[in-house]
Amino acid sequence: MKVVSVMNYKGGVGKTTVTANLAGDLAFRGYNVLLIDVDPQTNLTFSFIQPDIWNKSFPNSKTLKKWFDNIIDGNTPTPLIDLTFDPETVNKLLEGKGRLSLISSDLGLINVDVDLASKLGGGNIGQIKKSFLKNHKWLANGLKELESNNLYDIVLIDCPPNFNIVTKNSIVASDYILIPAKPDYLSTLGIDYLLRHVKQLVKDFNDFIKSDDGIVHKEINPQILGVLFTMVQTHGGEPIAAQRQYINQTKELGFATFTPYIKENKTIFGNAPEAGYPVVLKIGANKTEKEVIQGIEEFTNEFIKKINL
Ligand SMILES: Nc1ncnc2c1ncn2[C@@H]1O[C@H](COP(=O)(O)OP(=O)(O)OP(=O)(O)O)[C@@H](O)[C@H]1O
Ligand SMILES: [Mg+2]
Repeated sequence: MKVVSVMNYKGGVGKTTVTANLAGDLAFRGYNVLLIDVDPQTNLTFSFIQPDIWNKSFPNSKTLKKWFDNIIDGNTPTPLIDLTFDPETVNKLLEGKGRLSLISSDLGLINVDVDLASKLGGGNIGQIKKSFLKNHKWLANGLKELESNNLYDIVLIDCPPNFNIVTKNSIVASDYILIPAKPDYLSTLGIDYLLRHVKQLVKDFNDFIKSDDGIVHKEINPQILGVLFTMVQTHGGEPIAAQRQYINQTKELGFATFTPYIKENKTIFGNAPEAGYPVVLKIGANKTEKEVIQGIEEFTNEFIKKINL
């Protein structure tokens, strides 16, 4: 079971859209996919289930917030598998090939970050390191346990645009990091910043485990899969010059990038979450939609190759 965090500090660059479409495409190809929404904005959750249905029928106990709350209260974590559900609309479109499950977020997840942060301070240096490891490993431990159920080939974690403790839990739990970015100044500026923070977290974690007496931890080493450009405007089959400049600059700076990109189309992507399934699974797509879908499928091909799925 491979775990991939989809992240970028920058908000609104297409993280959630990419996560939903990649998951849909992988599941349609026969993979069993688990999505985890770790963003309090709950956009991924509501891309697969209508808010009114969620409010009415979704058990409060089955969100990631409740899972963390239970931990914060000092209890043993419940198995993550108990939090999974299979959204109906999207799974019907998979024709029984693969499976798409989701662990839902909750607006209140924002408080979890504050509560976890308050657990980090205090004590001597040894206690601080111990508490750092413990509170950054909850999700990794939960996913390790879930792996033994042999239900999923891949887990995709949709991260919020921040570097809080829940996001860091996702990195610690991940084998790979995928970075969607818009080819513009601010989005590409943030990539270097993000990678430096990931590097620092990995370094701290791997340093601290050496001095955590009596407990054996595995070193973490999440691989940067690369930057996937999103919302790309094209002219004559090529990204427009203004965007090409940032795509080339990102490559020149030495960041790994995906060759395929996701085209910009506000109509197609804007309406998709309401439908309960991602664009890539649309039946009877028109010419423009087909072009957009083709870009997503080419990205999925490269993604599968890169992680050897
Ligand atoms: N390729 C695209 N073309 C046009 N609009 C897009 C595209 N991808 C995403 N969008 C739209 O842009 C907005 C932001 O996308 P999305 O929610 O996926 O970004 P995000 O990075 O997850 O945002 P956040 O940082 O808030 O979590 C949404 O309204 C979405 O419908
Ligand atoms: Mg998002």
